[in-house]
Amino acid sequence: MKIGIGNDHSAVDMKNEVVDFLVEQGYEVVNYGTDSYESCNYPVYGEKVANAVAQGNVDLGILICGTGVGISLAANKVKGIRAVVCSEPYSARLSREHNNTNILAFGARVVGIELAKMIITEWLNAEFQGGRHQTRVDMIMDIEERKCK
Ligand code: RB5
Repeated sequence: MKIGIGNDHSAVDMKNEVVDFLVEQGYEVVNYGTDSYESCNYPVYGEKVANAVAQGNVDLGILICGTGVGISLAANKVKGIRAVVCSEPYSARLSREHNNTNILAFGARVVGIELAKMIITEWLNAEFQGGRHQTRVDMIMDIEERKCK
């Protein structure tokens, strides 16, 4: 499985540790994030990873900024993206089982690396359950189609 990863300046070290962890687990990782500590704008990286997921260049995405909030908001503006920001593993797992999320975000200033690994592991190992959850996900995606204002 190929995973696209993106981050801003606040999450360079966390990104590197997450990449090492994912590679150890046998995932192929594409780095769309910054490798510089110089202040930059998280929407750039949220959009890059979101486009890679939406276009099928990677299977799933992981985004990290200070809180995970800004970068996930940016990703969710791209058609076809369901990005979740999580600080604990339970919501991460359920976000795939029920909401079929295709991008996981978290904050480098919020979670430590060991908790981040647990969140990632739960998210990657979970499977979308379909059924009534598919109906609800379809309803979410229909909002996008109707371009509500
Ligand atoms: C950058 O200082 C910070 O605002 C950013 O990483 C993120 O937390 C925004 O949501």
